Amino acid sequence: MTETDIKKGLAGVVVDYTAVSKVNPDTNSLLYRGYPVQDLAASKSFEEVALLLWTGELPSEAELADFVAAERAGRTLAANVKAAIDLLPTDCHPMDVGRTAVSVIGANHALAEDSSPEAELAKAKELFAAFPAVVAYDQRRRRGLDVVEPRADLDYAQNFLWMTFGEEAAPEVVDAFRVSMVLYAEHSFNASTFTARVITSTLSDLHSAVTGAIGALKGSLHGGANEAVMHTFQEIGIDKNETREDAAARAKTWMEEALAAKKKVMGFGHRVYKHGDSRVPTMKAALDKMIEHYGRGEMLGLYDGLEAAMDEAKAIKPNLDYPAGPTYHLMGFDTEMFTPIFIAARITGWTAHIMEQRAANALIRPLSAYNGPEQRAL
Ligand code: ACO
Repeated sequence: MTETDIKKGLAGVVVDYTAVSKVNPDTNSLLYRGYPVQDLAASKSFEEVALLLWTGELPSEAELADFVAAERAGRTLAANVKAAIDLLPTDCHPMDVGRTAVSVIGANHALAEDSSPEAELAKAKELFAAFPAVVAYDQRRRRGLDVVEPRADLDYAQNFLWMTFGEEAAPEVVDAFRVSMVLYAEHSFNASTFTARVITSTLSDLHSAVTGAIGALKGSLHGGANEAVMHTFQEIGIDKNETREDAAARAKTWMEEALAAKKKVMGFGHRVYKHGDSRVPTMKAALDKMIEHYGRGEMLGLYDGLEAAMDEAKAIKPNLDYPAGPTYHLMGFDTEMFTPIFIAARITGWTAHIMEQRAANALIRPLSAYNGPEQRAL
């Protein structure tokens, strides 16, 4: 075994087939079940995209209507899920709350140990419907606010914002949120999805796989980057009264200093895309609409300043987390809630992969090269 036989981080290693999504780094494109993600983001609801990821096809009107009705009926949390959340400190990370909530939802489930395709799909749909209530419940308890009950007359994105903020969001805001959910839904064998597949490969249950995936998503090299992007903006300083040009100049200086200090700047770079993340143009367009909606040109200045300085110094492009972070900030979410929103979206992709892994399973168990001490006597 030589050094080159070891694929650190599994970089470049193909471990299985998937029909869920196709990432093409050469053309910077991403297909969900064959459809370009930007086309789905332009015209499909998140509910339709979820069904596409799970079943392989866009739903008929009747299939969509059935799912929408079930989703609207499944937006409440069991008393013991709320009680478990209430036991957690309000200053713990909200990803810990998400992880705990999914674990309790799994423990409650009558079909927890049933891994038939029908049971797995039912559990995926139920988790999809319930998880926004976890995020909203946690965001409100952190702010000392009463719980807002879901509304069955609102769609998924509208209701998510309603339960979180207690008021109906403007259509532009709902649309930007929907776009973010579609873009975050799926991305092949990323770290959290692979984690879910590893757990599934042992024949463990769906909620265990999702719980493990949440742990993987929390890290700042993966989903935690959307939160970390906002910490960068906050470190540079957000001043609503600053001009776009002044904000860009300050951001540029910050980036030059950060790179000189050899810092990794979150929201830039990608293991697979080396010439730009396929999802960024669509998310950036949604961010632009939010900047216009909220009249916050200085945020665009910060965004442009960092991006230009990174491009000039290292030619590293932004990833999806870069435009998503400021978008959620403008909508009013606390920074720590950004990655739990990512969970709500990625539950679709994770569970599609769990079902795919289950259908053609092989235990995932790689080898390692031992580099500890030679055998020795006690
Ligand atoms: N800031 C500064 N330099 C960077 C960055 C960055 N964000 N990303 C890569 N580089 C540099 C590295 O320092 C390294 O430079 P060197 O060769 O001079 O040492 C080179 O680019 C290659 O970087 P690696 O980390 O080896 O590349 P890898 O493919 O392993 O990393 C990763 C991909 C982990 C995403 C990396 O780009 C990174 O840490 N980015 C910041 C975290 C982030 O935004 N993650 C979100 C991913 S997308 C998502 O989850 C939706």
